[in-house]
Amino acid sequence: MKHFITLDEISPADIRRLLAASVALKKRRSRRGGAGDVLKGATVALLFEKPSLRTRVSFEVAITKLGGHPVYLGPTEVGLGKRESVADVARNLGRWVDAIVARTFRHETVQELAQESGVPVINALTDREHPCQALGDLMTILERFGPLKGRAVAFVGDGQNNVSHALILGASKCGMHMRVACPKGYEPAAAVLESAKTAAASSGGSIRIVNDPKTAVSGADAVYTDVWISMGFESESESRRKAFAGFQVNSALMALAKKDAIFLHCLPARRGEEVTDDVLDGPQSAVLDQAENRMHTAKAVLAALMAPKVFAKI
Ligand code: CP
Ligand code: NVA
Repeated sequence: MKHFITLDEISPADIRRLLAASVALKKRRSRRGGAGDVLKGATVALLFEKPSLRTRVSFEVAITKLGGHPVYLGPTEVGLGKRESVADVARNLGRWVDAIVARTFRHETVQELAQESGVPVINALTDREHPCQALGDLMTILERFGPLKGRAVAFVGDGQNNVSHALILGASKCGMHMRVACPKGYEPAAAVLESAKTAAASSGGSIRIVNDPKTAVSGADAVYTDVWISMGFESESESRRKAFAGFQVNSALMALAKKDAIFLHCLPARRGEEVTDDVLDGPQSAVLDQAENRMHTAKAVLAALMAPKVFAKI
């Protein structure tokens, strides 16, 4: 693994290793550092074009706990592609820092940062994919239910957003049964589906796209939703609210899932829109475990890319 940009490029074995390391690091969290001084002397740039709470804080804390130093560059600072070209920013950063964690609008921007910087690049969310989120999601399902193979996950909402895409790719590599319920016109990208189908064929998993949330949720182990209006899609707010009106996760929909099913959401949530308060705050909700697990998985990804020898022993 040179970069962590898309789960398309991470093998099922590497996903399993990252998850196992994340679980091990979580167990050691009481000890300062957890994985020793894996990043001692290293500096990691956090280059963000969009706002963030979980991703920024979990990475800053993970880097600090591993002995490294984060440098945060927010949406108003660099002018990526405006004040300076993406390639020029990448070439400069590559001379100072040891890795780049980047949150961008265009997926191609993260790819270009990887190509031009000469240092490992981690995708902290693009319009196409949010692989760090999917890793935290899979870890949360793993710690609740044990082995992922055979588990059914229902994603209800915007099938073509970054969180849906990453989960589809990750789940299909882990032998899970992924069901996506979305309105017509909001289906996952064809390339993501094709890749997921190929992965599922060899992992024993499956992927199904439906337009009825009830069909997707019936008998599921985990029910997942995300905002209807992702960052950057604000101009489509009105049409999206109309299209997604029947796609709210509420207690009536949750009742169709398995009795011990969990509710997942990457957060931030728009309460009362894609999810009701009683589900988000209810006993089946695992959203805060998910948020916590972002930090443990961030540590694992950083170690895998920046200190592979130490990572192999975690
Ligand atoms: N889930 C997630 O990525 O949250 P932030 O946008 O707050 O980082
Ligand atoms: N799909 C959401 C995820 C936020 C973590 C967005 O892109 O805004």
